[in-house]
Amino acid sequence: MHAIRSNPPGKPVKPTVLITGGAGYIGSHVVLSLLDGGWPVVVLDNLCTGFRFAVPETAVFYEGDIADRELVTSIINDHDVDAIMHFAGSVVVPESVADPLKYYDNNTGKSRVLITAAVQSGVRHFVFSSTAAAYGIPESIPVSEAAPKRPINPYGWSKIMTEQMLQDTAKAHEMNYGILRYFNVAGADPRGRTGQSTKGATHLIKIAVEAALGKRPGVAVFGTNFDTGDGTGVRDYIHVSDLAQAHLLTLEAMMAEPLRNLTLNCGYGRGYSVLDVLNAVDRVSGMKVDRQFEEPRPGDPAALIADNSRILETIPWMPEYADLEVIVEHALAWERSLDARRKESNITRDTAIHSIAKD
Ligand code: UFG
Repeated sequence: MHAIRSNPPGKPVKPTVLITGGAGYIGSHVVLSLLDGGWPVVVLDNLCTGFRFAVPETAVFYEGDIADRELVTSIINDHDVDAIMHFAGSVVVPESVADPLKYYDNNTGKSRVLITAAVQSGVRHFVFSSTAAAYGIPESIPVSEAAPKRPINPYGWSKIMTEQMLQDTAKAHEMNYGILRYFNVAGADPRGRTGQSTKGATHLIKIAVEAALGKRPGVAVFGTNFDTGDGTGVRDYIHVSDLAQAHLLTLEAMMAEPLRNLTLNCGYGRGYSVLDVLNAVDRVSGMKVDRQFEEPRPGDPAALIADNSRILETIPWMPEYADLEVIVEHALAWERSLDARRKESNITRDTAIHSIAKD
């Protein structure tokens, strides 16, 4: 395995970034953004939900666990890692309700081990993948970073506990943090290099494009009587590549001012309803996705929209794909390519991706 430093000759070499969970959905897009920007990247992923094929050959790849302190320490030392971006973790809200300790273990306990290794090895910057689930059911929308943190599920708690560890650590040690609270992440790399590959997805846009391609019979619309324009739930959908760019810019801001810590909402500050999303999928795909109207999921807020004024004022973030149809287009293109991949390998749908992942 080789660290590939792709900076042109004469330009200063950028510091190496360790990306945990870099074979996963959001992590793999951040890996691409960093590589595209000429950063040396090392990925650590245990492939429990990620895919080896999602990590380009130009990144160094380690299959392993973030709680393996020895491994993390040797990666940091061997590659002179100066920054960590931490995506590894569990992300399914209902699963966190059924199995809370898995979430406190994967998202909180293991993060503690990772942060300890980082501090002890002198890593100076730590970017953390957090969530709008921190706000629970907000009192008002759009919701700003200053809103009370009142998660309504163990997933949200497991993330804000890690936020707290980072805040305390940054006070005591020479490490600054960037906490990014994501709203509803969707879409895929515009160049088709990676996307959302997880089986059994629960996220609306992924499910809707699967339905448009005939992989599901239709989409259940959870709740039709919310206090929103059309009665269905409203969310702030953000393109995963814009989100990836926000990570890179946050890291640059942290490196420019090592005493500065940042907590930033990542969203576009506008919402779309479930029906808006399904109509966009119909338009982009040319299909008519079947809708079944069902009861709301317990704990779902009617609307969740980011107040994104802080991120816009703090880093030079200029979203390129803030358009619902573009997000859907890219999600659909990725879903089609996943299908082609499965067909090419001529094996069953369920095993195709895993067998590719093990290549
Ligand atoms: N929805 C449906 N049918 C589905 C799936 C979703 O109607 O099959 C609706 C939901 O009720 C909601 C909207 O589509 O109104 C979006 O739901 P998602 O499941 O795609 O996303 P959530 O808003 O529930 O979850 C997102 C993130 C979580 C995070 C949470 C914070 O994916 O990681 O926001 O509230 F915790």
